[in-house]
Amino acid sequence: MNDFILSNGIRIPAVGYGSYLSTAGGGKQVIREALDVGYRYIDTARMYKNEAEIGEVLADYKIDREELFICSKVWPTDLSREGVLRSFEGSLNDLRTDYLDMYLIHWPKFRKDDPNWLDNVLEAWNVMEGLYDQGKIRAIGVSNFLPHHLRPMLDKVSIRPMADQLELHVGFMQEYTLGFLKDNGILPQAWSPLGRARLLGDERISYLAGKYGCSNAQILLRFLVQRGIPVIPKASNIERMKQNLDIFSFEMDDDDISFLSCIPECGWSGEAPDLGVE
Ligand code: A2P
Repeated sequence: MNDFILSNGIRIPAVGYGSYLSTAGGGKQVIREALDVGYRYIDTARMYKNEAEIGEVLADYKIDREELFICSKVWPTDLSREGVLRSFEGSLNDLRTDYLDMYLIHWPKFRKDDPNWLDNVLEAWNVMEGLYDQGKIRAIGVSNFLPHHLRPMLDKVSIRPMADQLELHVGFMQEYTLGFLKDNGILPQAWSPLGRARLLGDERISYLAGKYGCSNAQILLRFLVQRGIPVIPKASNIERMKQNLDIFSFEMDDDDISFLSCIPECGWSGEAPDLGVE
């Protein structure tokens, strides 16, 4: 249960370290601490502007590259042949590596009313397929793509996305999209699995934490992993980092998973792929 398998057979850790904004407060030290407590998946993006800091830590850290799983993402303003190549080379240089374990298109569109978004996605995807074929990326995927973004794309690509990283957490389970991903062999992955801390004080979560003898955060993460979804929580303090990795010593029963799956919408970030990210 500590790993999931992508459609091309690549293993992806069930719990990764989400680095968005984490280095802004803690700098390089938080990345070092995440590695110290046992995280092997580091999630970043060109847009996070922290790849160079992560790369400096990785260069010093005594660990084989093959033990790490590094994921980065291309921003939607770079969805062109030159844009992807430039962004990808920038990520490799900053991260000081010669390959990425996973590379994602960060959002399907920059402007909400962009009539060319699909052409841009397809051009970018074609370049990513080439990088995958050359062995420079072990798995390619998307992020924040809903079925109506994926469906027109799937018809036209030679390599299908292996993962779709989405906002997923108790109160925002996007069941329709999860069903579509399952039907198409695409692994969902959860960003903001704690709902950016908005769900941590929820009394329904506290009740289950009491029942299973764990923390509220562990309930939220364990739920997703039991639903078959890898998670990338952010945490800036070492105790929370440890806690978020330590979710494999208990199992929730089916009724509790069902209860959490059916909680009415809450905790949504307000971000949505069709709104653009301008
Ligand atoms: P902090 O960064 O101060 O450690 P998400 O990953 O859903 O975006 O949520 C991240 C938020 O949840 C951050 O505010 C983070 O706080 C907080 N957080 C992460 N892990 C825990 C935990 N185990 N207990 C309580 N809060 C946590």
